[in-house]
Amino acid sequence: MPIRSILAGAGGYLPERIVTNDELARTVDTSDEWIRERTGIKQRHFAGPHETATFMGTEAARAALAHAGAEVADVDAVILATSTPDQAFPSTAVRVMAALGVKGGFGFDVAAACAGFIYALSVADGMIRAGQAKGVLVIGSEVYSRILNWEDRGTCVLFGDGAGAVFLRAGDGSGTDRGILSTHLHAQGTLGDILYVDGAVGQRGKPGHLVMNGREVFRHAVTRLAEAVDEALNANNLTRADIDWLVPHQANQRIIDGMGRKLGLAAERVVVTVDRHANTSAASVPLALNEACQDGRIKPGDMVLLEALGGGLVWGSALVRM
Ligand code: ACO
Repeated sequence: MPIRSILAGAGGYLPERIVTNDELARTVDTSDEWIRERTGIKQRHFAGPHETATFMGTEAARAALAHAGAEVADVDAVILATSTPDQAFPSTAVRVMAALGVKGGFGFDVAAACAGFIYALSVADGMIRAGQAKGVLVIGSEVYSRILNWEDRGTCVLFGDGAGAVFLRAGDGSGTDRGILSTHLHAQGTLGDILYVDGAVGQRGKPGHLVMNGREVFRHAVTRLAEAVDEALNANNLTRADIDWLVPHQANQRIIDGMGRKLGLAAERVVVTVDRHANTSAASVPLALNEACQDGRIKPGDMVLLEALGGGLVWGSALVRM
């Protein structure tokens, strides 16, 4: 009997504090008009002191379990994607396990920048299919406000904080086409210097700030994500017409629009949160997925394509029948 990873529930958490472009423009040499025109971003959420990656990830996980009608006892693994962990170790994943009260099982973090959730989902899917876990929380939780360089207006206006999560349940794959149909992961390490953090926990006094060559990232994102869309369709013998929803990484409205056009999807079939959340890195795809599941747009049986690209460069896709 083949095993499938069923996406049983989704959840999200956004920090209480909302910062509009106008508010940002009081301290950064920028304007609402510039940010909106180039990116589509109108506002973002910034975490307060208590809204750590662990806290937000735990809240998102609780919401995903509730949505799935699952209990903490059903969780035997937590895989958490983040580039902004609260500590070098223990992993944010095991901190979330402790906060939730998960007894036993295993947990670890995945570092793949903005593609982190797709990477974590792929790892979780592989473990479920291999029979290593039956109930997996896959979380993206990020506090980018703590690694932004406020002197660099080209990057500090682009990001926000938040967490999104899904609960995957091992299901019987025979006689159903529900669940994760495929995941595809890619990396090109030679492009590591077009988007990176210039420090690390190990470098005393230099926790690091995000550095980005926006034009280069934009150029690669459009090409690589278009390839990823084709790859996912071809691997499943599907055509563009089979896709009901695109849930893309939320970095820039122009990149999102380009992917929607590539799939021939009407704009209302592309889930967009970048206007309100900005780029929340590994949290952006699960936050967008959660929003569209909660408001009833995405329904059981719908075919959903997830895709993301981030610093590395790393990128990938996941195709899911809800
Ligand atoms: N406000 C006002 N002006 C600004 C700002 C700002 N916030 N930022 C830059 N500018 C100015 C620049 O100084 C420049 O001025 P100049 O022409 O006088 O020199 C001008 O605006 C154009 O700057 P560019 O950086 O060339 O602007 P561009 O059109 O490339 O847009 C952007 C920048 C929005 C960042 C775009 O390149 C982009 O979206 N890139 C992709 C980002 C992305 O997808 N990231 C995803 C991965 S993120 C991750 O993995 C962590």
